Amino acid sequence: MTAGEGAGVFEALAEGRRSTRRFLDRPVPDDLLERLFAAARRAPSGANLQPGGFVLVRGAARDRLTAALTEAFRAGAAEPEDYSYFPDPMPMALKKRQVAAAKALQDAAGIRREDRAARDAQFARNFRFFDAPVALVATIDARLGTGCYMDFGMCLYGLMLAATAQGLGSCGIGALASYPTVIRRALDLPDDQLVVCGLAIGWPDETAPENAVRTERLAVGEFVSVRE
Ligand SMILES: Cc1cc2nc3c(=O)[nH]c(=O)nc-3n(C[C@H](O)[C@H](O)[C@H](O)COP(=O)(O)O)c2cc1C
Repeated sequence: MTAGEGAGVFEALAEGRRSTRRFLDRPVPDDLLERLFAAARRAPSGANLQPGGFVLVRGAARDRLTAALTEAFRAGAAEPEDYSYFPDPMPMALKKRQVAAAKALQDAAGIRREDRAARDAQFARNFRFFDAPVALVATIDARLGTGCYMDFGMCLYGLMLAATAQGLGSCGIGALASYPTVIRRALDLPDDQLVVCGLAIGWPDETAPENAVRTERLAVGEFVSVRE
């Protein structure tokens, strides 16, 4: 592949990836999954520490985890998160982006904002990994620093883009980070493994309106500034 062709391929992947929240009932072969992990392993990291890892949750463990998370969500059983994700309070400019993303999803799914039950039902799907054939929990060693989360984020994006390249869809599930203790207990993980997020992977249901949501981005000039 020439340098120019590579750029086109990468741009098409980056443009084509979007969060997928409805999947076909079709398995992802183990060897294909293995290839995605191998590609994600090539992500760079400071001092090549390669922080973070994935727990592939299957079978009875997945049933146990989904049941425990769904129960915790229904009961409103809040627990301290392992790490701080969103600012609290959320600055207004960021709140607007958060609301826009949520509204785009709700509009696509035909959910009215005042319909709390429908919104809760949609949100509860996070805890079933959106019924995707592949359910992953992303974890990181508690001793690692903030920069290591950045490194691990590159690995996550690598995994998502590798999935896109294979025609697979994916969705990050930060909602899982609200229940780290529930997750550690259900999966029998050691206390020093912090829960970063979940990840759903599978074949996108192209007929599902939720999967057609296209989110906005800042213009390049709004996030790059120049000093000379
Ligand atoms: C680490 C991470 C966590 C996320 N958590 C959730 C989540 O809990 N639930 C959800 O529906 N989407 C989640 N998303 C998807 C984001 O809402 C989505 O990436 C964002 O709105 C941009 O849309 P796009 O992925 O379609 O480009 C998450 C994405 C990332 C990268």
